[in-house]
Amino acid sequence: MKKKEISTKACTCSIIGTGSHMPERVMTNDDLAKIVDTSDEWITTRTGIRSRRIAAEGEATSDLASAAARNALEMAGVKPDELDLIIVATVTPDMFFPSTACVVQKKIGAKNAVGFDISAACSGFLFALQTARHYLNGGPRKTALVIGAEKLSSLINWQDRNTCVLFGDGAGAVVLRSDDSGVVQGQVLSSVMGSDGSQTDLLKVPGGGSFLPVTPENVASRPNTIHMEGRETFKHAVTRMCQASEQALKDAGLTTDDVTLVIPHQANARILAVMADRLGIAAERMFINLDKYGNTSAATIPVALDEANRGGLIKRGDVLLLVAFGGGLTWASAVIRW
Ligand code: COA
Repeated sequence: MKKKEISTKACTCSIIGTGSHMPERVMTNDDLAKIVDTSDEWITTRTGIRSRRIAAEGEATSDLASAAARNALEMAGVKPDELDLIIVATVTPDMFFPSTACVVQKKIGAKNAVGFDISAACSGFLFALQTARHYLNGGPRKTALVIGAEKLSSLINWQDRNTCVLFGDGAGAVVLRSDDSGVVQGQVLSSVMGSDGSQTDLLKVPGGGSFLPVTPENVASRPNTIHMEGRETFKHAVTRMCQASEQALKDAGLTTDDVTLVIPHQANARILAVMADRLGIAAERMFINLDKYGNTSAATIPVALDEANRGGLIKRGDVLLLVAFGGGLTWASAVIRW
């Protein structure tokens, strides 16, 4: 396929390393069928998920994030003290504060960085990537670590079959560098971010924050677990992911024909099949690993990107389309030339 000329003036940031880390413990659909009224057949046909990883007791989001970060730094050949910025996208921070980014900073020894978290649910990693790009393009900071990390098992109601079968734990990271060397690799050509606060009720963890603190009186109703209206969420996911994909490609001066590989948020194989069909993208150009990991929210895209990268599925010059959708509602996309 003939490659189009793409303007790179808008951004000088490159992804110079990817990394991921998944917890060791595998929970299969059959394991879940022992604790709720479900079956491997239902979960597989409705979602495409066959297993998910569950963090060990005492293993926090920052542990997964730090391990993914070390892998990305090693690939990039960047030492922790060279980092200027750490952004962690997560809805399962270690604690309300300090930020998980500050905890990661301590764990990896990135003493020269500034760190903060971003909360945009499953779109969080792409929100963080875009935020990091603006930092690197607009100031003296040169090197950023962008992480999507979740321990969603800490928010799961294991008695709710509508949600407990969907989610898992994991972390992925990229190292982003801005320089004038002219060496361009993993360059973000365009990106889109959006949110719709009129639909906050579709997907949420209502309790545990300032709105509805968990008390001895309400603890039995499990307000601090994931609540989701699955069917409505499904429809919004398809619409927004398609729109965000088309917009980012248009902004980059490209079409779906130019895309080598789509790295989508991994929530449901049926969402991805409808999306691929609507966008006219062949199934084999959609990277899917949700069968192994389920939905790990902000971690799905950086984990998938790292797997595709280390698996040799991406080569220099390839065009990647990253696209996400999540609670908020939020959505985001990015077109990257590798
Ligand atoms: N095992 C067996 N049956 C289940 C089940 C499970 N784990 N979960 C739900 N069911 C049942 C329901 O109770 C319902 O039964 P009923 O018809 O007797 O009431 C039936 O299956 C159908 O439920 P429904 O919610 O309509 O299923 P669905 O085909 O919409 O699939 C989801 C449910 C959650 C898999 C799907 O809606 C989805 O993936 N939504 C989007 C989720 C998402 O993307 N979330 C994250 C966004 S980042």
